[in-house]
Amino acid sequence: MNLGILVSGRGSNLQAIIEAIQKGILRNRIALVISDKEGAQAIERCEKYRLAHRVIKREDFKKKEDFELALAGALREAGVELVVLAGFMRVLSPLFLQSFPMKVINIHPSLTPAFRGLRAQGQALEYGARITGCTVHFVTEELDNGPVIAQACVPVLPEDSEETLSQRILEHEHRILPQVIKWISEGRLRVEGRKVWVEGARYGTLPFNPDLEDF
Ligand code: GRF
Repeated sequence: MNLGILVSGRGSNLQAIIEAIQKGILRNRIALVISDKEGAQAIERCEKYRLAHRVIKREDFKKKEDFELALAGALREAGVELVVLAGFMRVLSPLFLQSFPMKVINIHPSLTPAFRGLRAQGQALEYGARITGCTVHFVTEELDNGPVIAQACVPVLPEDSEETLSQRILEHEHRILPQVIKWISEGRLRVEGRKVWVEGARYGTLPFNPDLEDF
């Protein structure tokens, strides 16, 4: 499956996907990376690994609609079959999502539906949650609330700062995001409304639901 990856910043999740491909765990091709920010660290990674990449900025379009049409057009042109939001800091409208029905996934640093939106790790700390984590979900119109594909949980420690907690969650993001890409590419997801099951996966063991097989 050809991947299109949308980024806005550091790109460590992009890096995790690149490494999974290099190790031969993922058999995908990164057809295009799009950043909505000039100078994002993710772009340096694209240059390093010679990945096709473009910068498409919201500010360059009067209407959000036109920005999204440009994104969808570029992805289509590159032959993208699965769109991965990996730290893409914008909410996509139905207009974009209709171009890739059930083919857009996002990684979010909390156990959704808790702590959606910005600074999810900080929200978990401030709330006093003892457990948080990360979620890979299908993207729908509702912010960070599409059907959950995989989650990993992470304890919140008394000495945690937003940075230490974010770092601990990030290690799990780098596992569950490539794993979900693999499951989707293998055609193993079964979606029933909001419920998503992975064919042949082992369920019921913490901290992963379902058990990860490759990461
Ligand atoms: C990650 O924490 C991801 O969950 C959130 O944005 C951050 C992106 O990090 N959506 P990176 O750019 O992949 O390093």
